[in-house]
Amino acid sequence: MGVPSILALCATVASATAIQIPILASDNQAPIQAETGHPHGSKPLVNSTEIQDLISGDRLQRRAKQLFEIAKLGEAEYNHPTRVIGSAGHAGTLDYIYETILQLGDYYDISNQSFPAVSGNVFESRLVLGQDVPKSAAPMGLTPPTKDKQPVHGDLVLVKNEGCQTTDFPETVAGNIAFIKRGVCPFGTKSENAGRAGAVAAVVYNYEKDGVQGTLGTPSSFHVATFGLSGEEADPIIKKLEKGKSVDGIAYIDAEVKQILTVNIVAQTTEGDPNNVVMLGAHSDSVAEGPGINDDGSGTISLLEVATQLTKFNVSNAVRFAWWAGEEEGLLGSDYYVAQLPEEENQKIRLFMDYDMMASPNFAYQIYNATNAANPNGSEELRDLYIDWYEEQGLNYTFIPFDGRSDYDGFIRNGIPGGGIATGAEGIKTKKEQEQFGGKAGDWYDNCYHQLCDDLGNVNETAWIVNTKLIAHSIATYARSFKGFPERTLSVSSNAYSENVKYHGSRLFI
Ligand SMILES: *[C@@H]1O[C@H](CO)[C@@H](O)[C@H](O)[C@H]1NC(C)=O
Ligand SMILES: *[C@@H]1O[C@H](CO)[C@@H](O)[C@H](O)[C@H]1NC(C)=O
Ligand SMILES: *[C@@H]1O[C@H](CO)[C@@H](O)[C@H](O)[C@H]1NC(C)=O
Ligand SMILES: *[C@@H]1O[C@H](CO)[C@@H](O)[C@H](O)[C@H]1NC(C)=O
Ligand SMILES: *[C@@H]1O[C@H](CO)[C@@H](O)[C@H](O)[C@H]1NC(C)=O
Ligand SMILES: *[C@@H]1O[C@H](CO)[C@@H](O)[C@H](O)[C@H]1NC(C)=O
Ligand SMILES: *[C@@H]1O[C@H](CO)[C@@H](O)[C@H](O)[C@H]1NC(C)=O
Ligand SMILES: [Zn+2]
Repeated sequence: MGVPSILALCATVASATAIQIPILASDNQAPIQAETGHPHGSKPLVNSTEIQDLISGDRLQRRAKQLFEIAKLGEAEYNHPTRVIGSAGHAGTLDYIYETILQLGDYYDISNQSFPAVSGNVFESRLVLGQDVPKSAAPMGLTPPTKDKQPVHGDLVLVKNEGCQTTDFPETVAGNIAFIKRGVCPFGTKSENAGRAGAVAAVVYNYEKDGVQGTLGTPSSFHVATFGLSGEEADPIIKKLEKGKSVDGIAYIDAEVKQILTVNIVAQTTEGDPNNVVMLGAHSDSVAEGPGINDDGSGTISLLEVATQLTKFNVSNAVRFAWWAGEEEGLLGSDYYVAQLPEEENQKIRLFMDYDMMASPNFAYQIYNATNAANPNGSEELRDLYIDWYEEQGLNYTFIPFDGRSDYDGFIRNGIPGGGIATGAEGIKTKKEQEQFGGKAGDWYDNCYHQLCDDLGNVNETAWIVNTKLIAHSIATYARSFKGFPERTLSVSSNAYSENVKYHGSRLFI
């Protein structure tokens, strides 16, 4: 399919709305609503224990089933369920979130924030180097296709240094395939330099043994079709090239990069102090490869469920829920949101809590190791709230790096304290973690991470309930009071944070 115009996109959204209503109506169970226990005007102040007690696995699972039905709307275009931005599955997800909050009446003010996003889709790809088809070859996110979406041939040409300067590219790159070492500058810069030098494709090889799952980031008209390659498979080729031997290659990528509009949905309590906002978020989109029930259907649903139960209580501080779009394309929605905040509005947000992947099947209870030394003041108090809660429940937890892999990134960079919890993606569970959490050492925390099998079978309900209760606790605590929590300071962030950051979203960019 060609690049859809914005009008065509609106048509997609409208038709998804039309399809989605019968799906939810045909669900023979009644719509999920909160029973209202207190008459209007006499709600008790939110209480952590009480709101935690309202979290149930059945309700989470019922919503997961609804979300999976919505992901199937993506089948017409993608041949499998998906909720990737621009798809009917994502449009259906947005409608579902919006409708769920709307049903809660005047407890929340809801707003849509529309923003432009680039959406990349690789339909097919192949790389042949000499006689070999390297196993680790992976097209970069947001890569353009090869010329006319056809295979291109050329000699591999070793680029000097890391290919961050145009002068690193020998003239012989023109009409051939640039072979570039990872490091120093973003993959997008290397691809752009290769394109300017006239390369027909580029391969970025790792300085480590492993493969590279990268993204080119913001599209440029100079980008060429670009693959990542493991250091292990690059090694013999580099040796040949360095000896002056020639190695030829065939590169093929059928892909499209399109500009679309997508939407962040934000809901804030009408009660509570709007100058001291408790903010939290999950992302509404999945990757193109699958339905994203754990990533981040789980967080999306946890937030919907806690937002629903919160309506039985009153709050002292306003609570603002966000469902971000375009997280998988590089944190687009949350970045856009924070960038649009005037300083005065930025100052009202006391903290941001990120809830991405709450129910990994081979889970660990992970807490982002957000410290005040490297992050805005208050991040560590939030981290300690999570620690205290797991300890009170008699549960184990681990720390994971706070390194830019999810939607907290824009907040931290703009001076807003942040943190969050997760249950693990493509990392490998250790022996020790098997003792701490059960499950299976040596396997990924989420074996279906960013794949088609991230479906209804890909959640651990125990972990999901535990973490949804913790989300409820985090909201209840700060919605009652910010006593003892650091005041906001100006929106300048510490550089200690950016020094540690290699990610911007799930894919490496450098
Ligand atoms: C919530 O509490 C505030 C004061 O803290 C009060 O003015 C308001 O009426 C309460 N609202 C409800 C719905 O209980
Ligand atoms: C919250 O509710 C629990 C159970 O009803 C009660 O024991 C506790 O004292 C309440 N906490 C506060 C701070 O009011
Ligand atoms: C906001 O977006 C949702 C999801 O796309 C849609 O259902 C709703 O109609 C929109 N509301 C407004 C006021 O634009
Ligand atoms: C947490 O981060 C701090 C620095 O900000 C570091 O000193 C500490 O070792 C980290 N802890 C773990 C368990 O990673
Ligand atoms: C916590 O981890 C220890 C091993 O470090 C294990 O013996 C214990 O059973 C774990 N606790 C729970 C609640 O799983
Ligand atoms: C969830 O994890 C717990 C603890 O590891 C395990 O006992 C349980 O069987 C798991 N549930 C599912 C559905 O995998
Ligand atoms: C962080 O907040 C604490 C408590 O409000 C305060 O004592 C401390 O001075 C603050 N630190 C910085 C670096 O602003
Ligand atoms: Zn995610």
